[in-house]
Amino acid sequence: MEQSEMKENAGKAAVDALIRDGVKVGLGTGSTAITVVQYIGLLLAQGKLKNISAVTTSLQTEMECEKWNIPTYSLNSRHIGGSLDVAIDGADQIDSHHFCVKGGGGALLMEKIVAYSSTIFALVVDETKLVEHLGLTFPVAVEVIPSARVSVCKALDRLQGKGVVRLAVRKAGPVITDHGNIILDTLFQQPIYPAVMEEEINCIPGVMENGLFAKKGPHVFVARADGTVEARDYPPQQS
Ligand code: 5RP
Repeated sequence: MEQSEMKENAGKAAVDALIRDGVKVGLGTGSTAITVVQYIGLLLAQGKLKNISAVTTSLQTEMECEKWNIPTYSLNSRHIGGSLDVAIDGADQIDSHHFCVKGGGGALLMEKIVAYSSTIFALVVDETKLVEHLGLTFPVAVEVIPSARVSVCKALDRLQGKGVVRLAVRKAGPVITDHGNIILDTLFQQPIYPAVMEEEINCIPGVMENGLFAKKGPHVFVARADGTVEARDYPPQQS
């Protein structure tokens, strides 16, 4: 089975399990999260789902919602009031504690705000995203105010991390996030404690947010190459 099919299977399983009429939902970013948007859009168009209110985590997701006529709101709007019933998002890597790294699509800032403002947080991944240790093979994205680029790099060094400016494709220079910042993709030489590192990075002046998600336990939907989807509740079962 292709990875794209696995992504779609994970997305559908999460929607079937968690999305009901009237739900206020946070919608993530990336190719897996977009399958969630598309499936919700389809169910709305077929009349199988009603009164969904969405908060998007990026321009990518907002544009996809427009395509599917999914009503979107600001998290600040009176209708949403700063909190959501459920957020569904993808991830770049996830460990056995359900800690994860996100931000491969550069949308980590709004993704974290939305995830941490939701009663239920769910991740949709294919099995290639499961790892033993975070931060070693897929970089932790650190969103930084552009004028703090060098000072944040130095501070990351002190945390044994090597931050590299993410460069744009089809535009000269760095990726500029939806919020006008740059991203330092940061790999670590040693295994990290995700919950501790998430806080330590965020204490560096100039850092807006980082892509370690260790403080909001997510349910996880893991799609496998054999076509099945495993729903893993939070907290994870000890094996
Ligand atoms: C975007 C993200 C994405 O969820 C993450 O990069 C996974 O993307 P994909 O589903 O395309 O593999 O965090 O900032």
